[in-house]
Amino acid sequence: MRRSVVRGTGHYLPSRVVENSYFEQTLDTTDEWIRTRTGIERRHFAAEDEYTSDLALAAARDALDRAGITADDIDAIVLATSTPDLTFPAVATMVQAGLGMTRGFAYDVQAVCAGFVFALANADGLIRTGQADRVLVIGAETFSRIMDWTDRGTCVLFGDGAGAVILEAAEGKGDSHDRGILACDLNSDGKLRDLLYVDGGVSRTGTAGALRMQGNLVFRHAVEKLAATANRVLDKAGLAPADVDWLVPHQANLRIITGTAQKMGLPVERVVLTVADHGNTSAASIPLALSVADREGRFKQGDVVLTEAIGGGMSWGSVVLRW
Ligand code: ACO
Repeated sequence: MRRSVVRGTGHYLPSRVVENSYFEQTLDTTDEWIRTRTGIERRHFAAEDEYTSDLALAAARDALDRAGITADDIDAIVLATSTPDLTFPAVATMVQAGLGMTRGFAYDVQAVCAGFVFALANADGLIRTGQADRVLVIGAETFSRIMDWTDRGTCVLFGDGAGAVILEAAEGKGDSHDRGILACDLNSDGKLRDLLYVDGGVSRTGTAGALRMQGNLVFRHAVEKLAATANRVLDKAGLAPADVDWLVPHQANLRIITGTAQKMGLPVERVVLTVADHGNTSAASIPLALSVADREGRFKQGDVVLTEAIGGGMSWGSVVLRW
């Protein structure tokens, strides 16, 4: 049975780091409030002339370097973003051009903060069906471009960045001992769109718009839906929470992450946390966390790694894989 195994990871963070205290100058907020309510301490913001495709390309190059392969070895690029450079073409094709790729195909996936989980599941489908042998899966965002800087309830939460994972086809036995992606679980409920959305867009306003969120409602949906999707994906793979070596969650809020881990009975030592240094980078947060933890040598071959995310839509889901 064809499986999608992780061949390499990479990431890129813009050089500008903004500490929580920066917001104390312009907003009625404090470092203390942001830390205790969210776990966020700082975030990176892209420079004015630095675009989502630049972040994505840098993460892609890092992943290729670390995997020891070149762009010629890649058959497809699937890129998750809600903050593309332009309405079209897809950011993925900009990365393809930037890498000098002259074959294969590239497209974007949009499921907001759940985008990377959707992109991983999508790439897994391409590999399983024989459409591609190696897929570069990227999450890249410049959420700083869609912030209302007067809204203290949102603008302190988000950051910019990109992460990339290279998936490669491998033969497995078809059981839970295989390396690679073991199961995926994707969900959306469009009735919940008013909880988290951007109030602009090409068709409706002709402007980029700004992010709007009912934070406390999002919070409540998040813990319940994330624990449910995580348990469901483990069940599909024939695994239990006790089998999970690493939970690599979407990094939106430390309280959501620990609440979900608690609900699943996972000790916090098994959770990869980057939210303090990155903030919420939407679709980039999981591949960033995977790459940072990989670089630290945390994952051993055969480890069970569980990812989960929720975002605007609302859309949420999870992927479980064996490293
Ligand atoms: N500084 C100080 N006070 C603030 C700030 C701030 N930065 N932001 C909000 N407050 C105030 C509110 O105005 C409110 O004041 P009020 O009682 O006078 O009206 C008070 O804090 C409490 O507001 P709540 O929204 O109830 O605070 P809560 O404890 O829920 O924390 C937060 C807010 C951090 C946004 C939380 O709800 C949260 O994290 N929700 C999930 C958000 C999230 O993760 N979104 C992303 C998921 S999907 C995606 O990643 C796109």
